[in-house]
Amino acid sequence: MLQRPRRNRKSSAVRKMIAETRLGVNNLIYPLFVVDGKGIQQEINSLPGNFRWSLDKLLPEVEQCLKLGLSTFVLFPKVNDELKDKTGTYSYSEDNFYLKIAQTLKKEFPQINLMSDVALDPYSVDGHDGVVRNGKVVNDETLEILAKMSVAQANSGFDIIGPSDMMDGRVMTIREALDDHDFTEVSIMSYTAKYASAYYGPFRDALDSAPKTDGTEEIPKDKKRYQMDPANVKEAIREAYLDETEGADFLMVKPALCYLDVIKTLSDITTLPITAYNVSGEYAMLMAACEKGWLDFETAMPEMLLSIRRAGATAILTYFAKAYAEKFDSKN
Ligand code: PBG
Repeated sequence: MLQRPRRNRKSSAVRKMIAETRLGVNNLIYPLFVVDGKGIQQEINSLPGNFRWSLDKLLPEVEQCLKLGLSTFVLFPKVNDELKDKTGTYSYSEDNFYLKIAQTLKKEFPQINLMSDVALDPYSVDGHDGVVRNGKVVNDETLEILAKMSVAQANSGFDIIGPSDMMDGRVMTIREALDDHDFTEVSIMSYTAKYASAYYGPFRDALDSAPKTDGTEEIPKDKKRYQMDPANVKEAIREAYLDETEGADFLMVKPALCYLDVIKTLSDITTLPITAYNVSGEYAMLMAACEKGWLDFETAMPEMLLSIRRAGATAILTYFAKAYAEKFDSKN
C-alpha cells in the first residue's frame, strides 16, 4: 500500500500538528439570563447548569468567567408579567433593570464585550418579537420600537446590539438610530438567518416568553411569518446580503447544529465574521443524553462545538461556554 492515511493519525502530537480546526475560549460567547431583585440564582429546569441571575449574584459569576478567559457575554432579561404590554415600552424605559445591570457590569468590568438582545418578546404580552395587531406581527411599527430599544441599550454601555427579531429593515433602522445618537462605535450582530425552530423551547421557558396564542387567529401561535423556513438556504443568502448592505458587523446563523450547511454557505459568500447560536434545545438535548449516561459529556460537548467551527463559524454563542472554558481551554 502506498497510501496509509492512518500514518497521519498515529500520535497525539501528529494529530495536533495537522488539526485544521481549533476552538478556544476566545471564540465563545456566553449567554446569561438576568432578573430583577436580589439574591437570586435560580436554575432553569430545561437548561441545567444555567441560571436566572440577579445583579448581586451575577457580578461574581462574571468575574469567575473572566478568570476562565471568557470575555463576551450576551444578556437576556426575564421580565415580570406586570411590566409587559402590547408594544414593549419597558424595553427602553429608564428604570428597566436589564439596562441598569448592563451599566453596572460595564462599570465593574470595562474590558468585557457585552452584547444585548433586541426583540419585543420578553417585554410583550403576546410573546412575539414584534407588535401584534389584528392577528399580524406588524413590521414597520416594530422597527421604531427596536430602534428605541437599541439606543437605550447603547446608552447603557452595551458594546454589541443583537437584533433577534427578524423584522425586515431592522439592521438599517438600528444603524441609523445608533449613528444619530453618536453611537458609531457600537456594533450590530444581526441574527441574519434565524429559523422558526423547535429548538428554542428551553429558552422560552427561561424567559417565560413563548408566543401566547389564545386559540384564535388573533395571536399567531408560532413565529413562522418572520423567522425562516427550515427548508430554505437561498433565503439565508438573501438575508445575509441585506444585513451586509444595511450595515451589520457580524452575521449570525441560528440554530447551529441543524443548520451547519447554512453556516458553511454564508461563510463562503461573506467577508463578515459568522457567529452561530448553539441554541437552548441543542444544549438540552446533549445534557439530557449525558444525564442518562447515553453520551459522554467530556467528549460529546467539544465535538459539538468543533463541528460548528469547522462549518465556518468564527464565534459560537453557547450555553456550554463556561463548561468548555473550565474543562478544556487550559489543555489547548
Ligand atoms: C428572542 C430570542 C429567542 C432566542 C434568542 N432570542 C427565542 C425566540 O426567537 O423565540 C432563542 C435562543 C435559544 O433557544 O437558546 N427573540
